[in-house]
Amino acid sequence: MSETVRVSLGERAYDILIGEGVLGEAAARIAPLARRKVVAIITDENVARAHLPTLEKGLRAAGFKGPAIMLPPGEETKSFKGLEHLCGALLTAEIDRGDMVLAFGGGVIGDLAGLAAGLIKRGIDFVQVPTTLLAQVDSSVGGKTAINTKEGKNLVGLFHQPRLVLADVGVLGTLPLRELQAGYAEIVKYGLIGDAAFFAWLEKNGARVLDGDTAARIHAIKRSCEMKADIVATDEREGGIRALLNLGHTFGHALEAATGYSSRLLHGEAVAIGCVMAYELSHALGYASQADVARVRAHFDALGLKTRPAEIAGFSATPRELIAHMMHDKKVSDGRLTFVLPKGIGAAFTTRDVSEGSLERVLAS
Ligand code: NAD
Ligand code: GLY
Repeated sequence: MSETVRVSLGERAYDILIGEGVLGEAAARIAPLARRKVVAIITDENVARAHLPTLEKGLRAAGFKGPAIMLPPGEETKSFKGLEHLCGALLTAEIDRGDMVLAFGGGVIGDLAGLAAGLIKRGIDFVQVPTTLLAQVDSSVGGKTAINTKEGKNLVGLFHQPRLVLADVGVLGTLPLRELQAGYAEIVKYGLIGDAAFFAWLEKNGARVLDGDTAARIHAIKRSCEMKADIVATDEREGGIRALLNLGHTFGHALEAATGYSSRLLHGEAVAIGCVMAYELSHALGYASQADVARVRAHFDALGLKTRPAEIAGFSATPRELIAHMMHDKKVSDGRLTFVLPKGIGAAFTTRDVSEGSLERVLAS
């Protein structure tokens, strides 16, 4: 059984399939989209070990050829060096315009493979087969691709929409709990920015999502994808409403920078703390109640996510240092930061009207 969510982008529209075992359907789903039966699978060593045989078996049985390119796991792979290596491997394998790239992994593989697909031969089609919870609810949908440079994260990239997203909840069975929790933070984000009833559902069922209940996982991923699909269909290039998806991210990126983008703090973990900080800022500015702040913090706490910088091992950055990191964010223009502020639970807006004083008070609290 699988659920389908459509991303309505005119001639670039595509489906997101969510279910258990959709990996086994990859060949049947890709065949109608492929001009030739050649698919280059891009994956990392962890995903390959656990799941590549299943994917390859189905594709080979249906007559698909093409290389499986294995990259080292980790954020460092999303670099110019990683991109050069991957483009070289695709060109050596003589991947052509009519062929397909298949990104099989978490957000690192999805972002890198999507970028390489957008660049090779001036752009070839690609399919996202996300294998982390974060990638299934966020990074595989919406067409943002990028690598990191020494100047910052995700600063070199392009919009390149996939032709199809296949989210198999079965592959989450091998994902470490900490990675599941980090992805879960992005699910909570959708409830907070646009669906109070979904947040209430998560308060009741979040533990089932983390514990591996298939129906709960499918529901949470589907609702997240529906919300992201609607936002992307309205504002593909982030001229407006898409920025709401960055709730908690301005704070979160500063925390990630302050911890050296290391395994001390995963992206989703930073987003959870960042969401709570955004609520505190909203409360200070009169847009959220103390009860809202407490409710959001309690939910992350209950699911084992950190909600304060002090909980990060060895964290020592001062409020001024965090603000300096924020000023390097993509969301700065004319020296002013754009914040996503929640309005209660289930609504949010963007503003550039936040004084450094209120920001410093929240960061110091
Ligand atoms: P990731 O890709 O690094 O994966 C996390 C870890 O889990 C890796 O070690 C990986 O090898 C392993 N893994 C993946 N699937 C597995 C599975 N099924 N079983 C066992 N291990 C598995 O991390 P992520 O959290 O998926 O993605 C983070 C990246 O996503 C960041 O680079 C971030 O910038 C990017 N991102 C992009 C967007 C976007 O819109 N493009 C949105 C959010 C995040
Ligand atoms: N992850 C934010 C976005 O896709 O816009």
